Amino acid sequence: MPIKTISMEITQSEILQKLDHTIFPLITAAAGALHLETYVIGGFVRDLILRRPSKDIDIVCVGSGIELAQEVATRLGKKANLTVYKNFGTAQVVYKDLEIEFVGARKESYNRDSRKPVVEDGTLEDDQNRRDFTINALAICLNQDRFGELIDPFDGLNDIYEYRIQTPVDPDITFSDDPLRMLRAVRFASQLGFFIEAETFDAIERNKQRIEIISSERISDELHKIMLSPKPSVGWELLDQTGLLDLILPELSALKGVETKEGIGHKDNFSHTLKVLDNLAKNTSNLWLRWAALLHDIGKPKSKRFDPKNGWTFHSHEFIGMKMLKPLFQRLKLPLNDKLKYVEKLVSLHMRPIVLADDEVTDSAVRRLLFEAGDDIDDLMLLCEADITSKHPDKVKRFLTNFRLVREKLKEIEEKDRIRNFQPPIDGLQIMEMFHLPAGRIVGELKSAIKEAILDGEIPNEYEAAHAYLLKLAQEKELI
Ligand code: CTP
Repeated sequence: MPIKTISMEITQSEILQKLDHTIFPLITAAAGALHLETYVIGGFVRDLILRRPSKDIDIVCVGSGIELAQEVATRLGKKANLTVYKNFGTAQVVYKDLEIEFVGARKESYNRDSRKPVVEDGTLEDDQNRRDFTINALAICLNQDRFGELIDPFDGLNDIYEYRIQTPVDPDITFSDDPLRMLRAVRFASQLGFFIEAETFDAIERNKQRIEIISSERISDELHKIMLSPKPSVGWELLDQTGLLDLILPELSALKGVETKEGIGHKDNFSHTLKVLDNLAKNTSNLWLRWAALLHDIGKPKSKRFDPKNGWTFHSHEFIGMKMLKPLFQRLKLPLNDKLKYVEKLVSLHMRPIVLADDEVTDSAVRRLLFEAGDDIDDLMLLCEADITSKHPDKVKRFLTNFRLVREKLKEIEEKDRIRNFQPPIDGLQIMEMFHLPAGRIVGELKSAIKEAILDGEIPNEYEAAHAYLLKLAQEKELI
């Protein structure tokens, strides 16, 4: 029998079917043996109703979550991996591709001056009350006699069906208990295509400053999830509207607005950026490429100038932007390794294909671009194509045609000269041997002269040609 009558809504038999996984009957048996009231709760239930796949299972029981986890792990045998977090009163069982978290139902009260909650044992209802959103507070009973029964005290089911995000209790309380939840609201809206109900939204605006007590790691985890959502602009717009953006990523807020001088305005770089990000998201799920799209123009506010002849200019914004990335990554605790290097490369090179396509597409310019972008050339081209957001169809057509030309040339030159992972045809050691030179400045100059000649198309990327070129150069420098 359907729980609600709208056709897409979940039926009781569908719930039972979804719980027909080996793990659930096993938890039922373990809970029975220990006489523990036991439920699956939170994101797993939400996703089950939304028919989204989910591998994280949260189990709550009225009693000791750790004992229940131990019993389940014993029944699963060697294939299960049990970790107990005594300090938190929780335990995790990893079994095949599933991660199952166990916790005893609890009541938490927070002291306003401290981040540490006072945790007491509680009922299922207490546990549901302390959760973030109604859509995450649904529980399904796993005990034998009530298996599959949905416990939904806040009508979260209806909120799921109506795409609504709201807190189960007064939002000021929910958000002050854990301010990260403000960001989670935005993340769920972006990820699931839901809207944030007005009172909950207002409470985010009111409490936004509290986000400052949350660690950068937790914030970045949510930002990544916003980034990976189908239309990431939804999340970034909401961050802006709630005022959270100013606190988390002011570099992006600075892109907002249009200035007009002598009747000339420039485009709003914030909405342009979000368009680029959405365009790109249609073609890639590469998280760091999406970050590069979000940050590609952050150098614009600092480089903005008005020139009465040419109007608004943003000269060198790609380099200014690139320089802003490291401190930004440090602040948000984003990885400072190859991920930063990758985003830096894309941001600093993002104007190159456009300039190329706008100008004549010469072989040597294409060769130099290939050399600098290396294996990231395809990602750079995706970013640059997404960057075309002009409203003038003629302009868009011209750029796309020229981009096609750039892509063809890239392919042709790569096949001919293999510049992508450039290895000089003659290395420093060979140069030292050829001219009986010690290691030093001259060897470096000769090496770089070969590279430049290849990139300029003076010689092909081959040993014979490089050898002949070197001999000629050495004669000119009177080395031989
Ligand atoms: N939860 C909460 N407040 C938080 C984090 C989590 O109330 N700040 C509760 C919610 O009931 C949530 C459950 O804990 O559903 C599990 O949290 P988590 O695994 O972080 O999120 P999910 O809802 O499962 O979603 P996702 O897996 O997409 O992160």
